[in-house]
Amino acid sequence: MKIVRTISEIRQLTQSSQARTGLVPTMGAFHDGHLSLFRAARAECDVTIVSLFVNPAQFGANDDLDRYPRDEARDADIAGKAGVDVLFAPPVEELYPAGFHTWVDPERTGAEGAHRPDHFRGVATVCLKLFNIVRPDVAYFGQKDAQQAAVLRQMVRDLNLELELRVLPTVRDIDGLALSSRNAYLSSEERGRALALPRALTTGRAAYVQGSDPIAAARAALNGLNPDYVDVLELGDAKVLAVAARVGPTRLIDNVILEGELQ
Ligand code: PAF
Repeated sequence: MKIVRTISEIRQLTQSSQARTGLVPTMGAFHDGHLSLFRAARAECDVTIVSLFVNPAQFGANDDLDRYPRDEARDADIAGKAGVDVLFAPPVEELYPAGFHTWVDPERTGAEGAHRPDHFRGVATVCLKLFNIVRPDVAYFGQKDAQQAAVLRQMVRDLNLELELRVLPTVRDIDGLALSSRNAYLSSEERGRALALPRALTTGRAAYVQGSDPIAAARAALNGLNPDYVDVLELGDAKVLAVAARVGPTRLIDNVILEGELQ
């Protein structure tokens, strides 16, 4: 696996190539959720490029940018063993050089956007940059970040980008907790309490199937966690029950599909 740090180097690799290229944008701290995206890219594309960039622009002033888990050597080892062809791991100045002043500002950022001002502005901007730099045919994202995928799909449509977005199902631990790089922050006691999220979503979905209110059912099953939101969101063709809540200092998000497909 090649590790590339500069835009010019990645362009040299991709510009003249006719190969079908899959891009998996990540912030590192790889887990099985990332591995499922790498596998899909490898199965569907000739070349798999993974970007590893902890994007400062999508963290708020009180967010966890400084303590976000970073271990490039471990991530490179995992990606290499998973058959990734190129790891694009640029320094911050490569993507945001001095004098950078242009942002993508998505207007419809839903429940998550309401709680994280400017988060999706940072996500959309860095993803547009990555799409322009790598020029992938397909980009892969996880369903756990369903609202992120919806914002990016809207951007692809509105800005006439020529690529396909694929959203793959959330990978869960055996006890139901959605895999997330932020799970690393949880103490074992907090991890136990975090299980209220997937349980509440399962309860909410069961209520929905029976014709009652999924939001009320999920809220009641949160076992004392105080959510930022529990909401039913229309994301493209899909109806999704989504939750965000803090467990101790760690903010977790999760969702289940009630109807339709995120594609
Ligand atoms: O989902 C993530 O890890 C990030 O939001 C992304 C898509 C890599 C953009 O920084």
